Amino acid sequence: MMLTKARKKRLWELARSPAQVWARYQLWRRSCLAFLPQRPPAAIPPDFDDLWFLYRLIRTRRPKTVLEFGSGCSTAVIANALQHNSSGHLYSLEVDPVWAQWTRRCLAPSLMPWVDLQVSRLTRTTYRNIAVFRHLDIPAISPDIVYLDSPPLTADCRVAVDPVDLELRLKPGSTLIVDGRRANVAFLQNHLRHRYHIWKRWAPWGSTIFDLKEVSISEAISPPWTNAVLQGVS
Ligand SMILES: C[S@@+](CC[C@H](N)C(=O)[O-])C[C@H]1O[C@@H](n2cnc3c(N)ncnc32)[C@H](O)[C@@H]1O
Repeated sequence: MMLTKARKKRLWELARSPAQVWARYQLWRRSCLAFLPQRPPAAIPPDFDDLWFLYRLIRTRRPKTVLEFGSGCSTAVIANALQHNSSGHLYSLEVDPVWAQWTRRCLAPSLMPWVDLQVSRLTRTTYRNIAVFRHLDIPAISPDIVYLDSPPLTADCRVAVDPVDLELRLKPGSTLIVDGRRANVAFLQNHLRHRYHIWKRWAPWGSTIFDLKEVSISEAISPPWTNAVLQGVS
């Protein structure tokens, strides 16, 4: 039997269905699914297994700052995890004002203090001759966790360059999670400069996790302030 891409994907979803049921139960037990009735019928259905992974990551790593590209179910679950940690803050960037509004409706009032949800402008440009998207309104923060799940991709642009732009702000111990987006993962493997431990959940379609191990020597010894310091010394 010929396994088309659609069939492979369906099989993959079937294989994951016990994990989806388990993850949904775990999130429900922790009161993280109150947002579900507020989602509009047209919304992409939640991937409970990915949401449970995000929840556990936030609970175990206890980040001070989380940056999310693409708001939705993940915004509510990350905010819940931060609330359960009693620390940290989520900056969620959304390129579509209508979906931003839907996400706001999903956030219970008790979650609001944990989240800044902003609409960001998006531009299409090139990076080393590759077509890329770039968010134009990234807040001035140094995130401990970055979750890349946006923007919606097009046939001729399948990459967001933002993690490369953000790299100078990341410290060892920071984590970047890319949801699916295989072309974006390949791009980041080629263009990120620091040293990462890269691992995958549910290969080949699942999330890819980049754990920052070491800041690249050239970045470490020549950040933008180096010249000023050296001039001061001489
Ligand atoms: C893959 S969605 C995921 C958002 C979020 N991280 C989550 O886990 O729910 C990424 C983006 O797709 C856009 N979008 C377009 N159509 C959508 C739909 N039917 N449901 C949800 N998001 C949609 C929104 O701008 C959203 O930020």
